[in-house]
Amino acid sequence: MAEVEEKTGMEQGQLLSQSKRQPGEKKIGEALEKEREYQIQKGSPAPFIGREHVKAVFQEYTSRYDCEDEKIRLKVEHTYRVAQLCEDIAESLGLSQEDVELAWLIGILHDIGRFEQLRQYGTFSDAQSIDHAQYGVKILFEEGKLRDYISFYEKDEIIKAAIWNHSAYRLPPELDEKTLLFCRIIRDADKIDILKVTCDVPLESIYDVSSQALYQSQVTPQVMDAFFEHHAILRSLKKTPVDNVVGHVALVFELEYTRSYEIVAQQGYLNQLLQFSTENPETKKQFVELRHCMEEYLQKTCKAAAETLEEGCDDH
Ligand SMILES: [Fe+2]
Repeated sequence: MAEVEEKTGMEQGQLLSQSKRQPGEKKIGEALEKEREYQIQKGSPAPFIGREHVKAVFQEYTSRYDCEDEKIRLKVEHTYRVAQLCEDIAESLGLSQEDVELAWLIGILHDIGRFEQLRQYGTFSDAQSIDHAQYGVKILFEEGKLRDYISFYEKDEIIKAAIWNHSAYRLPPELDEKTLLFCRIIRDADKIDILKVTCDVPLESIYDVSSQALYQSQVTPQVMDAFFEHHAILRSLKKTPVDNVVGHVALVFELEYTRSYEIVAQQGYLNQLLQFSTENPETKKQFVELRHCMEEYLQKTCKAAAETLEEGCDDH
């Protein structure tokens, strides 16, 4: 997640003992065997992504961490929702079944670096630890974990670029069209679900601040300006607790696809974030301006999303 830093100061996840790993590893062996059998029966050299197998490998991988730790649980749930969103967006674009499956797989793998990040550094904050996207690439490609999920190599470069760039502020210009497509899908899916997580988890916990600091703070003028320019807020601009809320809302400006806007409208989390219940009268005025700005933007970009926002507004 790019400008979306999650909770800081988290406790470390615990590695489970080797003895607990063995049943999962057996399950993976069986699932991989089934995938291979399927490929042989199919007689097809086309890359095949066995979803059940992929899920079994992912479950086994994450079971090595403390699944009773809420932060791990939330990250696993985020992963499955993002994979589902990737599939949804890919289908809306009329992609082939093979590409829909690839988009789903990238969703499953995109945050694989988060678990080691939390275990080693006790935080999901990239600024305070490591770039979790790059770390995910290290796990999958340098350590070879990708081969546990898929046996073919044809899509490696796309998967690598999509994961490496999923949380970057901007995509590098040199990517080819096909790679760009998958980068954009995962970035949209991730941002959509970040809006949900921001509403589901107490903001104090996400930003590691007190309620008083959060609900008394004002939005930094430079953050307001960046919002009015309709783009994501650079981490370096965010100075106050409430700037983080504005940063999350601004993710909407970065969405690429109509389907993504439709999902945001359906889910209602954008509206919820814009109804931030500040105790500071100045911040209240700032949020009225932010809401108007977002409404205007959505009117131009996705009318259905704009209407949902207007319906949910207390200010009108
Ligand atoms: Fe991420």
